[in-house]
Amino acid sequence: MIAKIDLKFPMECVVALNQHRIIGDGNKLLWHLPGDLKRLKSMTMGAPLIMGRKTWESIGRPLPGRANIVLTRSKSYNMSGSIVVNSFDNAIRKADEWIENENCNSKEITQKKIYLFGGAEIYKLGIDYCDVIQMTKVHININKGTKFPELNDKDWKKTKLQQFNKTLDFPEFSYWRYQRVF
Ligand SMILES: NC(=O)c1ccc[n+]([C@@H]2O[C@H](COP(=O)([O-])OP(=O)(O)OC[C@H]3O[C@@H](n4cnc5c(N)ncnc54)[C@H](OP(=O)(O)O)[C@@H]3O)[C@@H](O)[C@H]2O)c1
Repeated sequence: MIAKIDLKFPMECVVALNQHRIIGDGNKLLWHLPGDLKRLKSMTMGAPLIMGRKTWESIGRPLPGRANIVLTRSKSYNMSGSIVVNSFDNAIRKADEWIENENCNSKEITQKKIYLFGGAEIYKLGIDYCDVIQMTKVHININKGTKFPELNDKDWKKTKLQQFNKTLDFPEFSYWRYQRVF
């Protein structure tokens, strides 16, 4: 694991991808799974999220009860409800500060954990900091789009948590926990 700075708080990656590692089309997600979004919300509530500017814009609003830390190279980007940073190291520093100050507007308890929230560029920058990946695998045959970085299978212990079969409304999907093996 190659990490640039020491983490004060653990970082977890949270992602939904298909069998080709596709996570979106560059602007939005390619599926709508309300159950997965609900789970994502409860999992990340009270924690800082590190996301790219494109993901931030695709969501279109701050996610409540969490620090929305947004990475951009722009020095003038300013969006209400976000904490704008110009480097991944600064994203980590802001997340640490937010946790330490318990600067949480919701009634939820602040989590002492940082979530790597995507998209592809931000996963690439941060995956080496993560010891856990909370992964939703969606079985949907799409080949083109933005991809999650390729993982080295031998670095991860994979546990399937829950399986959902295909229905008329939703594709097959499943929840997995990947734990880094040292
Ligand atoms: N399925 C999932 O779980 C999931 C999760 C999140 C996102 N997504 C999807 O992923 C797609 C977006 O991903 P993406 O890779 O295109 O974009 P992204 O990672 O969300 O954002 C990329 C932007 O981040 C900024 N950035 C990247 N590296 C940086 C660095 N080293 N320093 C400072 N800023 C940096 C740049 O912003 P500037 O251009 O402003 O400089 C860059 O354009 C969308 O389709 C979204 O729906 C899917």
